[in-house]
Amino acid sequence: MRQTAERLRLTGKRISVVPTMGYLHEGHLSLIRIAKKKSDVTITTLFVNPTQFGPNEDFSHYPRSFERDLSLAHSAGTDYLFAPEASQMYPTGYSTYVNVEGVADVLEGKSRPGHFRGVATVVTKLLNLTKPHVAVFGQKDAQQVAVIRRLVRDLNIDVEVLVVPIVREPDGLAMSSRNTYLNAEQRRQATVLYQALVLAEQRIKQGVRECSKIIDEMKSLITANSSGQIDYISIADNNSLQELAALQLRQSVLVSLAVKFGTTRLIDNIVLLV
Ligand code: PAJ
Repeated sequence: MRQTAERLRLTGKRISVVPTMGYLHEGHLSLIRIAKKKSDVTITTLFVNPTQFGPNEDFSHYPRSFERDLSLAHSAGTDYLFAPEASQMYPTGYSTYVNVEGVADVLEGKSRPGHFRGVATVVTKLLNLTKPHVAVFGQKDAQQVAVIRRLVRDLNIDVEVLVVPIVREPDGLAMSSRNTYLNAEQRRQATVLYQALVLAEQRIKQGVRECSKIIDEMKSLITANSSGQIDYISIADNNSLQELAALQLRQSVLVSLAVKFGTTRLIDNIVLLV
């Protein structure tokens, strides 16, 4: 991969990379299409990264479908699909990890200790391997974007980070490879995540400034309309990701949540300008 990337760079090509864990859906494909527009050569990476999964998480049964991913990535316009083996990425004796502090410690980082250490490590490795000018990520994982921006800035990595809006199903559910775990009833109830975000948006537009009030209403909506177990609901400053008690005018806020349906944990978010 490094040799191919180096050869492309020497011939003056602008390279984009789209890191994924596969089981591609329309969200991933929108990243690939934008990457293609922003560069001469697009590399999609497909690697279910073991270091970002906790011991009780879904690494072993994360959905995988290589042939289907290959054809979808190709039809969306990717030029290369880089799909290394775990034993190549983390050979015996592997012992280096990238730790982003602060922005990685809240929200998902609090609920999934070690998750962003795995993400930051593998993204650093994938950037070194694919040598891109542009790296494309989805707003679906808002905190991941914040962690990667911090990582790129702090380690002086010479890459432009491009963020693409969330792609949703017609009923509002954010697309995710993990949606395939949901049974029919859970899938129906899962629309409540987006409904709760829209409720927050309405309340903020109506002038409500007290975050706990908005969060309580979101909780009530979710518990009244689903059997989902709320992990967290947060209203935070969109830059620092620090949770807010009250909203300030013209502040950019990230409203995010994580809800479990059975063993399936779903996340979603919306960015709002107060
Ligand atoms: P994965 O969950 O496969 O997601 C790959 C990329 O697709 C991420 O940037 C994610 O934010 C984006 N994405 C997923 N669903 C989306 C949607 N509905 N709309 C828009 N973009 C969406 O995120 C990862 O993999 C991994 O952590 C990775 C960065 C590859 C490191 O292992």
